[in-house]
Amino acid sequence: MIKTNMSRRSALKLGGAAIAIATVGGFYASSTASYAGPPNAPRPLQIPPLDTGKMQGNVRVFDMQVQAGKTEFFEGVKTDTLGINGSYLGPTLRMKTGDTVRMNVANGLSETTTLHWHGFNLPARADGGPHQEIAPGAVWSPEFEVRDKAATMWYHSHQLHKTADQVWAGMAGLVVIDDDESGALDLPDTYGVDDIPVVLQDRSFRRNGQMPYSSSMHSRMMGMTGDIPMVNGTVAPYFEVTTSLIRLRLLNGANASIYVLGFADGRTFSQISSDGGLLAAPAQMQSLRLAPGERADIVVDMSDGGVATLRSAATGGGGGGMGGMMGAAGQPFDFLELRPAASLTTSPALPDRLADLPVVSDSGVTKTRGFELQMSGMGPFAKFLINSKSMAMDRIDEVVEKGVTEIWEVSNFSPMAHPFHVHNTQFRILDRNGATPNAGERGLKDTILVNPQERVRILVRFEHYTDPERPYMYHCHILEHEDAGMMGQFTVV
Ligand code: C2O
Ligand code: CU
Ligand code: CU
Repeated sequence: MIKTNMSRRSALKLGGAAIAIATVGGFYASSTASYAGPPNAPRPLQIPPLDTGKMQGNVRVFDMQVQAGKTEFFEGVKTDTLGINGSYLGPTLRMKTGDTVRMNVANGLSETTTLHWHGFNLPARADGGPHQEIAPGAVWSPEFEVRDKAATMWYHSHQLHKTADQVWAGMAGLVVIDDDESGALDLPDTYGVDDIPVVLQDRSFRRNGQMPYSSSMHSRMMGMTGDIPMVNGTVAPYFEVTTSLIRLRLLNGANASIYVLGFADGRTFSQISSDGGLLAAPAQMQSLRLAPGERADIVVDMSDGGVATLRSAATGGGGGGMGGMMGAAGQPFDFLELRPAASLTTSPALPDRLADLPVVSDSGVTKTRGFELQMSGMGPFAKFLINSKSMAMDRIDEVVEKGVTEIWEVSNFSPMAHPFHVHNTQFRILDRNGATPNAGERGLKDTILVNPQERVRILVRFEHYTDPERPYMYHCHILEHEDAGMMGQFTVV
């Protein structure tokens, strides 16, 4: 089993390099050539440390040190990376709805950064977007109340024009929110045992074992992708499962790759949550598409005692044709091997009903805004725009009234799929080109993939905070596109 997997991995590496050379020649190939050392033996999946903060009075305080470090992705090879309280990625922050939290983010880098709380409803001053820069050596301490439901959120750098670079190097981590509704359900929720964080990424390495961020023409257009899949920063990971049901908190933490996830043996799994919280009911499926920024908790039944390999199918190349339908990435990846222990503790059955979600309806909604995701020009002249505008820090693009439900029509006539993300809200999808979204997309969302020739209508409301000066962002979550200007700003008044 292991042997087969490893030889398949090596074959994939070679295949990837060959395709790269054939496609764009030596330039691209040299920037993405894989580390050429011996293949990794499968390693235990690293579980990011769980951080529940420390209570100071009524405030749950998290100390987060952004730092440069070295990470051993490959046996005996040290790669330069960035991390939070560690060398690559950061701790999983766990908090409860209703908590007041304070994040002490200390910038230990020699460059400016920010840390954004992706998925949260929160005051604009606490958002951690491009307007909340943290200078080298400075500490930024936003405080806010957790108003979102039980969910898997995440945090990452949002430094203007440097987000892709800093996230690629490792500046990201997960947040788990619990609430009473989720606590009352018998869902797997023991961190690191039957509730597993799964940060999905792909990276490319140079022969010297480094993974520098290279903004080649190709990666600026298509987004930066790699040929080495990793989970929580572990290459070729396995996890020993001890319970009959296991929950995976999936995050697509890639810069640009869209993953179509499933298991090698085709087994069915249940999606129980979307970006912002639990679905109304578990949705059974064999395949789940996850674009950069999106999350989904899934529950996998391991009671048959067989190994389950989490895999991303090939999504077609980027650019036009079939590939354009899918987006930037193309390679099949084996992400994670779930190995059942000889005997498994029996988990409680999944409940039939999960969360109470309001019915989605556009009746009575009078305000509509359109957002067109646009690419124009090629190569060095390529532009990434929303409504014909490139991101400008001193321009507010939209002013939205607090508490008013609006329809946002997001359309895409460009050749690539773009994941559209909105800060400070969890929205619902009304339809995709007029059609009801599939079961896994009927819950709370903050990021949606918009395919070429597609118009997605979402129901948006900003319920909690106003700030006439400080904006929030909406943008494409392909980080290279965001950095290149496919981002706009809105205030809530
Ligand atoms: Cu995940 Cu504006 O970010
Ligand atoms: Cu965000
Ligand atoms: Cu994009």
